[in-house]
Amino acid sequence: MEFSPASLKRDFPIFQDSDLVYLDNAATTQKPGIVIETIESLYREANANVHRAIYSLGTEATNRFETARLKISKFINAPSEKEIIFTGGTTGSINLLSRSIGNILKPGEEILISEMEHHSNIVPWQLAVQRTGAVLKYIPINKNGELDISDPEKYFTPQTKIVSLTHMSNVLGTINPVKKLAQMAHSVGAVFIVDGAQGVPHMKVDVQDLECDFYTFSGHKMLGPTGVGILWGEMRQLENMDPFMGGGEMIDTVTMESSTWNSVPYKFEAGTPNFAQAVGLGAAVDYLENITMEKIAEHEQGLTNYALTKLRIIEGLHLYGNPPKRGGVISFNLKNIHPHDLAQFLNEDNIAIRVGHHCAQPLLKTLGETATARMSFYIYNDESDIDKFCHSLDSIREYF
Ligand code: ALA
Repeated sequence: MEFSPASLKRDFPIFQDSDLVYLDNAATTQKPGIVIETIESLYREANANVHRAIYSLGTEATNRFETARLKISKFINAPSEKEIIFTGGTTGSINLLSRSIGNILKPGEEILISEMEHHSNIVPWQLAVQRTGAVLKYIPINKNGELDISDPEKYFTPQTKIVSLTHMSNVLGTINPVKKLAQMAHSVGAVFIVDGAQGVPHMKVDVQDLECDFYTFSGHKMLGPTGVGILWGEMRQLENMDPFMGGGEMIDTVTMESSTWNSVPYKFEAGTPNFAQAVGLGAAVDYLENITMEKIAEHEQGLTNYALTKLRIIEGLHLYGNPPKRGGVISFNLKNIHPHDLAQFLNEDNIAIRVGHHCAQPLLKTLGETATARMSFYIYNDESDIDKFCHSLDSIREYF
């Protein structure tokens, strides 16, 4: 199949009869009609609570839900669909881990993250530290915006029990060497978690090849609905973990005194699961697979190079980070123009970018900023979007 952003765009209702230039895909992506229709058809044709009902409608809802789980497991090459846990998003997945494995840390044991993490991979660990007396350590970044692991013994120590790192920075676009980092974590006996919120949507992810123990991601950043995300975990780890939330479905038996747990993954899915969103995410996975993740990654790479070439020659434009291995996220500032003013002016031309701290305040502090402007790409963006952006930028610079 020929990759054509212009024809893909026709699948997205939001772009019809609109000149919208949407460059905020690291925040959330637009939804193709098929995802919206799949969710609608679930509610119209097969709405009943899953795993509970004996009647046909309940069986149909359960089948659609479990089919989505299977599709997602194949998409990331998980050894079993039982290792796919539906959560509310990457944040929900990491909080689950910070409770289930974070809670068993002893005082002085170490959790290792990095300076380029999103708040959702910082704050849950700070909370775990408050509960347990464990210590939170950070891998710094170098001037290119890559993780500085030149002195690994400083960070990977016998005390390190959990290492949790982003696959791709949502500010700098840096793609981290996840497999190498997994091996470093395992060499000191730590478990290795990947924040894949910016990973899975943009590249082929094979959780077995990456050698991680846990991989987390969000549906809404990969054409799927909001309110659904995934925690993939290696079965042995999941079986040994305590549940995070208690409630219906996650139990085997309940007495007035105590309870026993359901098997994995249900042990971690308390309450009525987000089955309509899960089914919608299954449709998004089909859509992405039809294009292929390899073509998506190649497209975003080309677009990023094109944008960087154009941005580098703009006087007074400062780019943050210059990682050799990067995805479709570019952060920058223009001299003497506050990024919030810039975003407002771009909005006049119906161009959407994100400005601010991007939920990564520690990284922004390292960069010496409180806010940057950020553009981020997806399958429906093409060079004409970058050209319109640059044209708009020219007028803004003239105005200022
Ligand atoms: N994590 C999202 C972003 O980077 C919200 O914009």
